[in-house]
Amino acid sequence: MKTLIKGGRIVTAVDDYVADILIEDEVVSVIGKNLTMEADKTIDASGRLVIPGGIDAHTHLDMPFGGTTSVDDFRTGTLAAAHGGTTMVIDFAIQNKGQSIIEALDIWHGKADAKAAIDYSFHMIVTDLPVDRLKEVKRMIDQEGVTSFKMFMAYPGVLLVDDATIFRAMSFTGEHGGLVCMHAENGVVINEMIRIALEEGRTAPKYHAITRPTKAEAEGTNRAIALAEMANSAVYMVHLSCHDALKKVKEARDEGIPAFAETCPQYLFLDDTAYEEENFGGAKYVMTPPLRAKWNQNELWTGLRMNDLQCVSTDHCPFCFKEQKELGRNDFSKIPNGGPGVEHRMSLIYNGGVVAGRIDVNRFVEITSTAPAKIFGLFPRKGTIAVGSDADIVIFNPNKKMTISAKTHHMNVDYSCYEGKEVQGVSETVLSRGKVIIENEQYVGRPGDGKYQKRSMIQLKYKEPASPVLARI
Ligand code: URP
Ligand code: ZN
Ligand code: ZN
Repeated sequence: MKTLIKGGRIVTAVDDYVADILIEDEVVSVIGKNLTMEADKTIDASGRLVIPGGIDAHTHLDMPFGGTTSVDDFRTGTLAAAHGGTTMVIDFAIQNKGQSIIEALDIWHGKADAKAAIDYSFHMIVTDLPVDRLKEVKRMIDQEGVTSFKMFMAYPGVLLVDDATIFRAMSFTGEHGGLVCMHAENGVVINEMIRIALEEGRTAPKYHAITRPTKAEAEGTNRAIALAEMANSAVYMVHLSCHDALKKVKEARDEGIPAFAETCPQYLFLDDTAYEEENFGGAKYVMTPPLRAKWNQNELWTGLRMNDLQCVSTDHCPFCFKEQKELGRNDFSKIPNGGPGVEHRMSLIYNGGVVAGRIDVNRFVEITSTAPAKIFGLFPRKGTIAVGSDADIVIFNPNKKMTISAKTHHMNVDYSCYEGKEVQGVSETVLSRGKVIIENEQYVGRPGDGKYQKRSMIQLKYKEPASPVLARI
């Protein structure tokens, strides 16, 4: 099968030029001016951007959490992602306490196999890592293509792991080509604040934010970086939400410590006044970390511009307002944490970043596709348009506008955090490994088009080979 994309403006993290692209089967085979080869399908991309498919490195599809399960599974979630120009998600498999990591991965393969509209991979959430389980981590990296491991400083009794476990994981992964992704919030202190708030009868959604202050995130971020330094490993902060935490990452990077971080659209476009929405509407925005005071948004954009933040992911973890968010009507701590976002990341960041003049179009591609591909072991197969790369390509109309609404979105959730917001920049046609799956904004693919992608080892530090602390023991 040969597909020719004609006359588009090809934009990668570093390039910006008009040319044609020939795709043979699943990969880009030729890029050049006025290509004349015969093709089975020709797509006119004139007046459009031709960009690498988005990579959302943080989704929670079909995830049991907070006494319920996120409502997008691998079919609906990846289909919604495809509509928005995302051609790959890295989702989170969860190891329950005492469970084998291998068994946990099998369960997540079972959830995704034959359902996905786009390619996918897994991080592993590790909740339990005695020394004799490190061999399973090695197997993940060497054989299963799972090279990143999320650990939680939050949610005591459920997902939280202690500092010794984090240090052990960082030391091991740092040496064997893996990466620890940190949920950096001091969950022990947060739980105490929640206890006090509830004891005083403060049960409304806004107390979710008040009991998770920015200092709790900054402390976790600082601790994660210190642990990584002691372990001589890199570290990646997930869903960084505020200036206090960003300052810690920036300070570390200025000292040459390999600390990396993502933020999410909700922290760039929404703020903590959303928790005041009437009729329990604030529950829609209950996510961790919570939305912050609006002034943080500018700081996050500066972080993105200056590369102290490398990626924008969504932390897509949707729960319906009806029956799911409502579980916490009388107690904010029972509202399932998480919000929808996988569908509109590309348009939101293009609109709020490029159209608003905060970042240029190359940086847009970099933070939504190239950087996640590089950090998580997918580049140059994914994250760019180059000869030999997978033909995950989006024909993006930079001038077209759309209004975001739950009435028209494809996510399986009954509200949108951005209801009524107009954005400029729409993904019109989407190719996943050479196959057109969205054509003129209509889904034309099939469940199972998306395939599991093994990821390569991750090398984000270039210092001594082993922990300087451990070497002295
Ligand atoms: O509220 C959130 N973020 N839910 C998903 C779990 C997590 O911590 O990423
Ligand atoms: Zn998290
Ligand atoms: Zn998450």
